[in-house]
Amino acid sequence: MSDKIKVGIIGCGGIANAKHLPALSHQKNRVDIVAFCDLIPERAKKAAEKYGTENADVYTDYRELLKDESIEVVHVLTPNISHCELTVAALEAGKHVMCEKPMAATPADAKKMLEARDKSQKLLTIGYQNRYRQDSQVLKHMCEAGELGEIYYARAQAIRRRGVPTWGVFPNKALQGGGPLIDIGTHSLDLTLWMMNNYEPQSVMGASFEKLGRLLKPGEQGNGFSPWDNEDYQVEDSAFGFVTMKNGAVITIDASWALNTLDVGEAMTMLCGTKAGADMKDGLRINHIVYDKQTVTKPETATPQGVAFFEGASVMSAEDFECNVWLDAVQGKGELVVKPEQAFVVTQILDAIYESARTGKAVYFD
Ligand SMILES: NC(=O)c1ccc[n+]([C@@H]2O[C@H](COP(=O)([O-])OP(=O)(O)OC[C@H]3O[C@@H](n4cnc5c(N)ncnc54)[C@H](O)[C@@H]3O)[C@@H](O)[C@H]2O)c1
Repeated sequence: MSDKIKVGIIGCGGIANAKHLPALSHQKNRVDIVAFCDLIPERAKKAAEKYGTENADVYTDYRELLKDESIEVVHVLTPNISHCELTVAALEAGKHVMCEKPMAATPADAKKMLEARDKSQKLLTIGYQNRYRQDSQVLKHMCEAGELGEIYYARAQAIRRRGVPTWGVFPNKALQGGGPLIDIGTHSLDLTLWMMNNYEPQSVMGASFEKLGRLLKPGEQGNGFSPWDNEDYQVEDSAFGFVTMKNGAVITIDASWALNTLDVGEAMTMLCGTKAGADMKDGLRINHIVYDKQTVTKPETATPQGVAFFEGASVMSAEDFECNVWLDAVQGKGELVVKPEQAFVVTQILDAIYESARTGKAVYFD
C-alpha cells in the first residue's frame, strides 16, 4: 500500500480547479487525491478523472467521504457559510483540514472550528495564499527584521472598479455571509495583520454601501467578468473599516467589487512605520530616507528569467508554496504559516465592520 498522504476534496468548483488541485498534483511524490465530493456530481467526477487516483471515490455527501479512514487530509472548498460545518466534521473524523478563506462567515463559527481543532489535535489552516507571494515574503522578512520600525498606520486594500464575481454564489448573502469585504477584504486584512504581527484590535468603525450592485443592469455595468444579475444581488458592493489596535496603531480597510475609482488593487497592504514605509503598488516598494533624500527601493520579487523551476525553489508560485508548507506541516516537517487563530481575528474584525455599518456605532473588543 502507498504511504503517500491521502487527500479528500470537498467542493470541486472554481478554487478547487484553479488552486488546490493543480498545486496538489505538483506534489505527486507525496500525495494521492483519493476522494472528491461535490453537491453537483459531474463536478466531482470531472475533477476525479483529471486529478484523482485510478479508483478515486466520488461523493455528493461529505459525510460519506469523511468515513474513509485512509484519508488523512481534507480540503474544504465550498461557499463560506459551510466552512464551519464541514471543517468541524472533518476534524472530528480525525482529518487535518485546509479550509478556504475566509475561515468562516461569523466569529462564532470560526470559534467552533478552533475548538474542534483543539479537541482533535489535528492541523487546521486557511487558504490565504497571498502570504506566499514573493513580495509578501520579502516584506514579511523586512517587518520581522524591524526595517520599517514601529508600524502605526496601515491600509488593507481590496478595490476593484468593476469585478463582481459571476460564477459560484458570491452575491448570495445566505451562502457567503457578505460581499467584497468578506471575499477579498479578508485577503488584504490578513496580509496587513500578518505584516504588523498585531492581532489585538481594540475598536472598529465601519460603513458599507449597496449602491451599484442592485442598481446597474447588464449593459450598463462594465463588469470585468460577465454581467452580473442585479436583481439577485444581495450583498454590499463596497465596505470600509477603521480599526484601532490596542497598541494605538490604526488600519483602514477598503473593499469593493464595484466602485467608481481608478485607485484599484487587491490583496495589497500599505504599511507606514517609524523607519520606513512599504506598499505593493507597481511591485513591492519600500519608501525611506537615504542621506537626507526621499528614496524608493524596489526589491526584485518577480521570478528571475532563466531560472528553472525545481521543488523547494524560492521562485515557486504562491499556490505551490502554500501547498508545500501545508504538506510539510502534515508530515511534521515544518510549521504552519497561516495559523487559524490569526484567521479568527480577521473574521472578528470583518464581522465588526459589518456590525458597525449596520448599527452606526463603534464595536469594542475586550
Ligand atoms: N483563496 C482565494 O483567493 C479564493 C478565490 C476564490 C474562492 N475562494 C473561496 O473558495 C470557496 C469556494 O469558492 P469557489 O469560487 O470555488 O465557488 P464555486 O461555487 O465555484 O465552488 C464551490 C463548490 O462547492 C460545492 N458545494 C457547495 N456546498 C457543498 C457541500 N456541502 N458539499 C460538497 N460540495 C459543496 C458547489 O457545488 C461548488 O461546486 C469560497 O469560500 C471562496 O471564498 C478563495
